[in-house]
Amino acid sequence: MYYSEELVEEIRSQCDIVDLISGYVSLKKKGSNYFGLCPFHNEKSGSFSVSRERQMFHCFGCGVSGNAYTFLMKYENFTFPESVQFLAQRAGISLPEESADGRMEEKEKRRKELLAVNKDAATYFYYALRDPSGSQGLAYFQGRQLSEETMHRFGLGYADKSGKKVIAYLRSKGHSDEAIRDAGLAEFHEKYGLSGKFWNRVMFPIQDIGNRVIGFGGRVMGEGEPKYLNSPETEIFNKRRNLYGMNYARTSRKDHVILCEGYMDVIAMHQAGFNQAVASLGTAFTDQQAMLIGRYVRNVILSYDSDEAGTKAALRAIGILRQAGLSGKVLNLKPYKDPDEFIKNLGKEEFEKRLKEAENGFYFEIAQLAAGYDQTDPDQKTQFHNALARKLCSFSQEIERENYLQAIAEKYFINPQILREAVISYAAAGMEKVEVKPRVLPAAQRQKEVREKKLTRSCQLLLGWLCDRPRLYRQLADHLKPSDFKEEPFVKAAELIFEKLDKEEELNPAALISCFEEEEDQRLVAEIFHARDDVLQWDGQEQTEDKQIGKIDQKVFREVLLSVKNAAYEEMAKTAPLAEVMACKKDIEKLSSLKIEM
Ligand code: UTP
Ligand code: MN
Repeated sequence: MYYSEELVEEIRSQCDIVDLISGYVSLKKKGSNYFGLCPFHNEKSGSFSVSRERQMFHCFGCGVSGNAYTFLMKYENFTFPESVQFLAQRAGISLPEESADGRMEEKEKRRKELLAVNKDAATYFYYALRDPSGSQGLAYFQGRQLSEETMHRFGLGYADKSGKKVIAYLRSKGHSDEAIRDAGLAEFHEKYGLSGKFWNRVMFPIQDIGNRVIGFGGRVMGEGEPKYLNSPETEIFNKRRNLYGMNYARTSRKDHVILCEGYMDVIAMHQAGFNQAVASLGTAFTDQQAMLIGRYVRNVILSYDSDEAGTKAALRAIGILRQAGLSGKVLNLKPYKDPDEFIKNLGKEEFEKRLKEAENGFYFEIAQLAAGYDQTDPDQKTQFHNALARKLCSFSQEIERENYLQAIAEKYFINPQILREAVISYAAAGMEKVEVKPRVLPAAQRQKEVREKKLTRSCQLLLGWLCDRPRLYRQLADHLKPSDFKEEPFVKAAELIFEKLDKEEELNPAALISCFEEEEDQRLVAEIFHARDDVLQWDGQEQTEDKQIGKIDQKVFREVLLSVKNAAYEEMAKTAPLAEVMACKKDIEKLSSLKIEM
């Protein structure tokens, strides 16, 4: 789908980025900007800033930046047209069905195709379960006490012994072998051609929050390895960002979700009326999943196995939840292993009771911690107190920390003042600092990367400076061309910026970003308007995005300018006609000696 630049801009300007991002990240006003924990990297310090004035976001920690569209593409994994559609809907603007030239985004088309394959496959499996030939599958689900209604609600299905029929069916629906394979439903062998990935299993279609089938889990009926076989990650199936059952849980109108480990647990809970249950997709819980939950509720009740692995997973999940600003509680299902077994044995009333008794996540962590120390040994007791102090440091809010401190002190018979002092000394030692590990690369590659990064930075700084100071632009205009910026997206960005500067029109950074459809390009262009902030930040000053236009050193400016120009020259020398190369050389000479009024 292709939308005109005017329309794209109109939609963007109707949506306030602070409102939009507040729906995903909790933001606090600080100066003229809003700050919060960056959703795109793990952090505790809140370096993610959103500017209402500029309608842009920027993270001082990991460097992501962009406008509302970039945010949606990154966060929701949307394509550019999908972000446009999303914001249009939010703003109540209707979009043309298909543009005049009928251009459709390649990526968009692919996703649609793979979703269509999955949808048809789910339909096939669904009917196969209800066909006489699927009786073994049906018997399996019935044996697990699932009602007809539940099986229908979750679209449960059956993949037969050979796994061939679904492929024939998908082909008959007009899907190419390539699409069938890329959707993760089949594997391709040189010798045998296409073979179905799922066979002799009961099937669980996995839906995203929009009820689209993005993948499958298939379980053996009885014993066998692997117990569950899952679709591989594909362009539409991201296991880290989705949760099984979230499409239903999001409309459950409860103030929490129940997070568990298995598909069957989710289904059993829903059948018993607990339609706020969700599960991760065969992998450990992630911070993206925490954020997905955070869009709907603030509380999570964890229902992991009570064995050692389950406890460890629960502890990990509590940490992730806390970082995402959510509160976690832990469900005790003893003596049963998981919600499915519990409900089968003790019923839903008893389960409801246990939900009410779920233990505060922090107390759960502390209880686990305490079990590791022998409290009768003075040394170990001190160690335990220190560990407690360190844990208490993880609360960034003073009041919350103090409340927990008092409760814990009381529970474990510790003098609160002593515990408080330990907390203060830990906090002062700066244990919250995020460690940045350098990537190790071969020397040559590293050098090349550094050089490219430097050039990218130079392009961004120069364009940023010129935007802020039209006066500088006018002095250089004769010797600087958009094509000097060598690589996309800066050539196009320079064209657009120079055009505005030539006409002496106001430049709108957020609008400029929408001229690029690739997320990476949007980021690079957005950084034009942040490059100087980072320079300020590097100088150890306060984080700021205000339009503080400090003075630039003439020497630094010329250095940056010439590094852009020289890179252009090097590139030209390889391919361009001699006359152009000479002209560029002349520009460089001129710029090297030009007296610039800063
Ligand atoms: P469990 O082994 O706890 O299974 O795995 P379960 O959900 O209780 O299922 P039943 O009751 O035995 O049928 C929990 C989850 O881990 C993933 C699946 O998502 C499963 O629901 N898993 C497990 C796999 O992806 N592959 C496996 O081989 C096993
Ligand atoms: Mn189970």
